[in-house]
Amino acid sequence: MLAIGQRFLLRSGKDSRRFLSSQQIIQRDDKYGGRHFKPLPVVLTKGDGVHLWDKEGNRYLDFLAGFSTVNQGHCHPRLVQVMREQVGKLTHTARAFYTEPHGELAEYLTKLLGWNRFLPMNTGVEGGDTAVKLSRRWAYRVKKIASGKATVVFANGNFWGRSLAALSASTDPMCFTDFGPYMPQFDKVPYNDLESLEMKFKENPNICAFMMEPIQGEAGVIVPRDGYLKGVRDLCSKYNVLWIADEVQTGLCRTGKRLAIDYEGQRPDILILGKALSGGMYPVSGVLADDEIMLCLETGSHGSTFGGSPLGNRIALEAVKILEEEKLADNASNMGRILEKELKTLPAEIVKEYRGRGLLAGLVINKEHAEGWDICLKLKDHGLLTRPAHGQIIRLSPPLTINEEQLREGISIIKKVLLNK
Ligand SMILES: Cc1ncc(COP(=O)(O)O)c(C=O)c1O
Repeated sequence: MLAIGQRFLLRSGKDSRRFLSSQQIIQRDDKYGGRHFKPLPVVLTKGDGVHLWDKEGNRYLDFLAGFSTVNQGHCHPRLVQVMREQVGKLTHTARAFYTEPHGELAEYLTKLLGWNRFLPMNTGVEGGDTAVKLSRRWAYRVKKIASGKATVVFANGNFWGRSLAALSASTDPMCFTDFGPYMPQFDKVPYNDLESLEMKFKENPNICAFMMEPIQGEAGVIVPRDGYLKGVRDLCSKYNVLWIADEVQTGLCRTGKRLAIDYEGQRPDILILGKALSGGMYPVSGVLADDEIMLCLETGSHGSTFGGSPLGNRIALEAVKILEEEKLADNASNMGRILEKELKTLPAEIVKEYRGRGLLAGLVINKEHAEGWDICLKLKDHGLLTRPAHGQIIRLSPPLTINEEQLREGISIIKKVLLNK
């Protein structure tokens, strides 16, 4: 029972929040919020590096990193400082005017990654949408496909967000059911299957782009076989189809290289970035492409009120510099190797498969052993936070700043929970 004073404060506006228990916060969420997402029952109040704290002061290792967003660690001091500085200086003008950080970020990213131009947006799904728009424009104006016929092919199992275009591309019924009608001229092909891709390209000369993830994150960390990315590049070049690589999740050091395409040294025609592009400080995404493609969007054909804001651009610039200067791709690669080596020792009747590269990993748990959700609840009780993908795949994607001691602490929690020790 709440004391009278507490009950009063509960009803009396903003101070009341200090008196809500975690349970009450969760109940209020359930009552007033949308139900489109089911959070793990823990109320977080603070983050620092690889750690999160709940309302009761319990500390957790974060093995989710906001779905591979907080690559730089929570509240990285450099990001906090840049955020503070820019917030007090200039946050938003829209792209109605020039601001210095816009070109500064574009110059840095294009020189670092090797495309002519960068177009900033906000969320990953807007990055994907921009890439599809670019490829359709290119289809009509460069490839000369007849009006209305341009077709974009997506890989089965893809995930690039929740907009109507993204769910039209999805093969996951949870994502697309009862949201039709869907975007026309979106086609699908099995992932990691070059023969099917070539057949598709041969059948339809109106295909303008193939959009795929170099590792499928949300599908449960599906790593394609070696040579797939080179095969995609070769086929796209052969059939004059644009290759769009969605590196919203895999990009920016997560898999142990700057980009996941670097594993095969390949260069797509359009690259989409998001998530870690701002280290979770502010939503920033964007696409990179060369002039022939990017300049198909002329003035007035695309835009976003917030995309390219001085605040977002300053944060993104710092976020990428941190990844580079702290050599977080190397750390992801080294820590990923330890994670894989250690977790591959778990018995096959419990862990059916370890998938991943660098610090983007998934543990496929045998359903007869336990439900993925229940495992995540137990991990939480032991001080480690993550979530399952598709029920039985435990995501392992800590901030890339994690050191060996912290990683080993996480590994020992995972082993303890899975082995019921
Ligand atoms: C590969 C990929 N692309 C796009 C998105 C969508 O990003 P956002 O949720 O920021 O729109 C995601 C989100 O998980 C993703 O994993």
